[in-house]
Amino acid sequence: MLSGKRVVLGVTGSIACYKALDLASKLTQAGALVDVIMSYGATQFVTPLAFRSLTHRPVVTDAFDANAEYAVEHVELARQADIIVVAPATVHSIAKLALGLADDPLTTTAVASQAPLLVAPAMDADMFQHPATQENLERLRLRGAVIAGPGRGRLASGLTGYGRLLETPELLGYIAYTLGRQGDLAGRVIVVSAGGTAEPIDPVRVVTNHSSGKMGYALAEAARDRGARVVLVSAARALPAPPLVEVVPVATAQQMCDAVLARTPEADALIMAAAVADYRPLSAADQKIKKTGAELNIPLAPTTDILAATLGQAGPGGFVRVGFAAESENLVANAKTKVTAKSLDLIAANDITSEGSGFGADTNRVTLIDRELNVEELPLLTKYEVGNRILDRVARLLRH
Ligand code: PMT
Repeated sequence: MLSGKRVVLGVTGSIACYKALDLASKLTQAGALVDVIMSYGATQFVTPLAFRSLTHRPVVTDAFDANAEYAVEHVELARQADIIVVAPATVHSIAKLALGLADDPLTTTAVASQAPLLVAPAMDADMFQHPATQENLERLRLRGAVIAGPGRGRLASGLTGYGRLLETPELLGYIAYTLGRQGDLAGRVIVVSAGGTAEPIDPVRVVTNHSSGKMGYALAEAARDRGARVVLVSAARALPAPPLVEVVPVATAQQMCDAVLARTPEADALIMAAAVADYRPLSAADQKIKKTGAELNIPLAPTTDILAATLGQAGPGGFVRVGFAAESENLVANAKTKVTAKSLDLIAANDITSEGSGFGADTNRVTLIDRELNVEELPLLTKYEVGNRILDRVARLLRH
């Protein structure tokens, strides 16, 4: 997503400047070309050399630098930028951006650019709450800028409140979202399920599986980064919510079923990456089951098949339905049976015995099988890239 993108990173004078170093580093590692423009205030907190060392690019601090890389620096950077990110953005820099002032290299570049603008405020809570700041942020929003945060927590002043610069992973999510807003899924609603459901045996024990939720979360992020509005019905227990994705937390198969059925009427596509329990304990004990030393048998009842339940909703002109099949043998044959049995538009057959694939891994190896039972074997890819390959198919199905 970020590879080859030109990011102008505006850094203004806040103690949160130290976090911008991490952002510049992560953007560069992701393959972006990062041009940092620092305000005078920012140079009092961290040095231009620190940014230059991380981005391997000149850092702009002076609008009148005779040794600048470009003859008319602000115009060149403004033209080449795919996105302008101001992080941290102080009260003063937000006010200048809102008014369209151009009295330093950053604000001059911003008014000269057509690139999308992402503003990540960082300031004391009272400064953030001030009506002038709120009005300025609203003015930027109305002009199409994306405002990222601020987060809530302990501030440098010792106060607690809204004013913290978002952390790097969240900012990266906002940047990917802003870059992808006009993508091929813009205006579409995609419902994704993720994680392994947990079926209670008693108040302390559950029947569950090894799904971490990574595949579903990567899919949700990939759909967001192509412009979709994403609803993530999640049974994952340990993953942070992806920025700008609506997360509906669930635990059991029945809760996941209810949540999916509630959201699919507005959906253009449903992608079931979750590992849903096929069976649940017939009834959960009210109290913790005591150890007796005797054999314990727990009767199981089948759960509702969620994909099958959505079939009635997806009439002509209905939504695209995509399943996954986690298989340990006869991958393609078993997955083909599921395509037909659940009347799916597409299935991602997941070989969970393959190295680096399936539960908990950051990568996955899947074979795509469509409604006509055509087979496409994909190589080992990151889960985000697998998500994109599935979304390529979804986007194509939605165009027809
Ligand atoms: O979460 P990770 O750690 O990243 O691991 C990813 C994964 C291995 C969980 C994922 O890639 C995957 O394969 N998910 C589907 C696992 C699975 O339960 O497959 P299945 O063959 O049991 O089910 C087939 C399809 O029916 C799935 O899309 C499943 O979500 C759906 N299903 C299953 C049971 C049920 N009651 N209702 C359903 O809709």
